[in-house]
Amino acid sequence: MATYNEVYQRSITDPEGFWGEAAQLVSWDKQPKVILDDLRAPLYRWFSDGTLNTCYNALDRHVIHGRADELALVYESPMTGKSSSFTYAQLLEQVALFAGVLRDCGITKGDRVIIYMPMVPQALIAMLATARLGAVHSVVFGGFAPAELAARIDDATPKVIVSASCGLEPNRVVQYKPMLDEAIELAHHKPDCTVIYERPEHRVELGPNDVHWDQAMKIAQPAECVSVAATDPLYILYTSGTTGKPKGIVRDNGGHAVALTWSMKNIYGIDAGDMWWSASDVGWVVGHSYIVYAPLFAGATTLIYEGKPVGTPDAGAFWRVIDKYKVKGLFTAPTAIRAIKKEDHNGEWIKKSDISSLKNLFLAGERLDPDTYHWATEMLGVAVIDNWWQTETGWPIASNLRGLDPLPIKPGSPSGPVPGYKVVVVDENGTLLGRNQEGNIAIQLPMPPGTLPTLWGDDERYISGYLSAFPGMYASGDGGYIDEDGYVFIMGRTDDVINVAGHRLSTGSMEAVVATHPAVAECAVIGVADELKGQLPKAFVVLKKGIDIDPATLQSEVVAAVRHEIGPVAALHRVVIVPGLPKTRSGKILRRSMRAIADHREEPIPGTIEDVAVLDVLRPLLQGE
Ligand code: COA
Ligand code: AMP
Repeated sequence: MATYNEVYQRSITDPEGFWGEAAQLVSWDKQPKVILDDLRAPLYRWFSDGTLNTCYNALDRHVIHGRADELALVYESPMTGKSSSFTYAQLLEQVALFAGVLRDCGITKGDRVIIYMPMVPQALIAMLATARLGAVHSVVFGGFAPAELAARIDDATPKVIVSASCGLEPNRVVQYKPMLDEAIELAHHKPDCTVIYERPEHRVELGPNDVHWDQAMKIAQPAECVSVAATDPLYILYTSGTTGKPKGIVRDNGGHAVALTWSMKNIYGIDAGDMWWSASDVGWVVGHSYIVYAPLFAGATTLIYEGKPVGTPDAGAFWRVIDKYKVKGLFTAPTAIRAIKKEDHNGEWIKKSDISSLKNLFLAGERLDPDTYHWATEMLGVAVIDNWWQTETGWPIASNLRGLDPLPIKPGSPSGPVPGYKVVVVDENGTLLGRNQEGNIAIQLPMPPGTLPTLWGDDERYISGYLSAFPGMYASGDGGYIDEDGYVFIMGRTDDVINVAGHRLSTGSMEAVVATHPAVAECAVIGVADELKGQLPKAFVVLKKGIDIDPATLQSEVVAAVRHEIGPVAALHRVVIVPGLPKTRSGKILRRSMRAIADHREEPIPGTIEDVAVLDVLRPLLQGE
């Protein structure tokens, strides 16, 4: 087995040789001769003269090469009590037919399709069908409100939106159709039609522009794969940034197929025929990469799970699923393990199932705290692997590679950089820092295949937002350090992005909503530590002069407004009235200092003496109750 160091060094000293070889894992319509295209640097392109189809790589080629009757997808839904499965041949049939439906709706190469769906196989079918036509999907997480969906409709300008009648949360049926209708009403751009998958749990009335999934499938003709350039977009995935306007991360077809296929074997140790479960949601990048594309590129079986780790129905749900399907690799967020640990500290539920098939537990999306790491390692008896990455990169930047000789694990660190990534730590001027010195984590350009080539329709925003802070580098937005053994330690975001239950959210966009309350003069939303969800947003508000409002009333009105404008996923529940907020001399709120206090990282406070006093008042509110 190749050593991590050998493979990593080769990827850095000979990136074109390394990725040129990895490209052989993919089926191309036209093999690329150009591996790295730097003509428009710092906007790099991979495999720019190659052509391929992503859906062909996920499905057709496995059917053609003798895997037609192997399982491609298993659906397990404790929310409905149902499960089902599709072989590669069956999944291909459904995807080709749904591509026919989309074609009948007018979708051709390059058109955008928004997918707003719960965790059902049809979400994955819609994604692959869009890719089959060479069109571009943009999946919107079901926990976002109509206004957020509308913002994405206006940016992506889709011809078609695919949705479902409902999603199922433990405490309620989430009706998608009214939210979809409201979003279309709010948006300036109007799609030509919507396709609605009607679930038995909730029936819907369809309007004149709505197509019924089942009825359309009955009359559709299967569509063939459309060849696209490696550099053509496969999808847009919106993610939170420092401003309220979400950023449309673009993923290309070629680099994505190469990187993800390589990652499945080398990082996750998964081969064709293996059972793989990524307990996330297709609305997040983990869902795109490791529920849908990578396991199917690899010819493995992917498990779609509609439910929560606890309470649906109990804390043994995950272990029963592993036992039932003999899952080899599980990928989820640390928060899911913390939720189970809270309910089943002694692992009684774990003992009720046979989880001997499980080899590795992979965790990502937020910091893996050492407590959770130790608990999972001890209770499950498998390797617990932290991996650090972002929507922007699409696959891990730092991880312990299970397909190579694994490195020793250091709790608190996702281990070393993944081949292809030149990870460095720099100060605010972009000067490289030494080992164990904390600063901004950056990646030297070019980044490897699969990482974002740009933002949708906005090269300039990509360059100014990511490539300008430290010339020649991509600014990750995370802070941390690299230790004497080359292990990366992520200490948290350097901007106003927070991670709530593994969900990435912008406190800036929450502040924009809080500020609209008529009693609020100014506000700051800060992520405070939470034992279960890692972080929770908390709003600190200063009231307008002369306003007298009951704190409980203010809190419930602000919480309702955030839920209405952003969605339940924002999980803002706490609003506290404070006498003042600390400010710089020019009047900017010292959010950075507030964040540092919330994270228990004491930093010099650049405000006036009065502001230091205000911060002292806020300290207990930021760190505890
Ligand atoms: N559609 C509609 N609403 C949704 C939703 C969806 N797809 N997903 C979440 N929500 C709602 C929840 O119902 C909840 O609403 P509530 O305030 O009415 O209870 C709210 O959004 C907050 O959701 P969440 O933060 O996920 O809290 P939770 O209590 O429902 O679940 C966990 C907490 C930890 C169990 C859950 O977040 C989890 O399993 N996370 C780990 C896996 C994961 O999602 N990873 C993502 C990146 S890898
Ligand atoms: P997302 O784009 O939703 O995947 O969120 C990316 C952000 O989540 C990163 O910039 C980090 O702040 C955080 N994150 C993801 N994985 C990890 C990890 N393993 N350790 C620490 N933080 C992480």
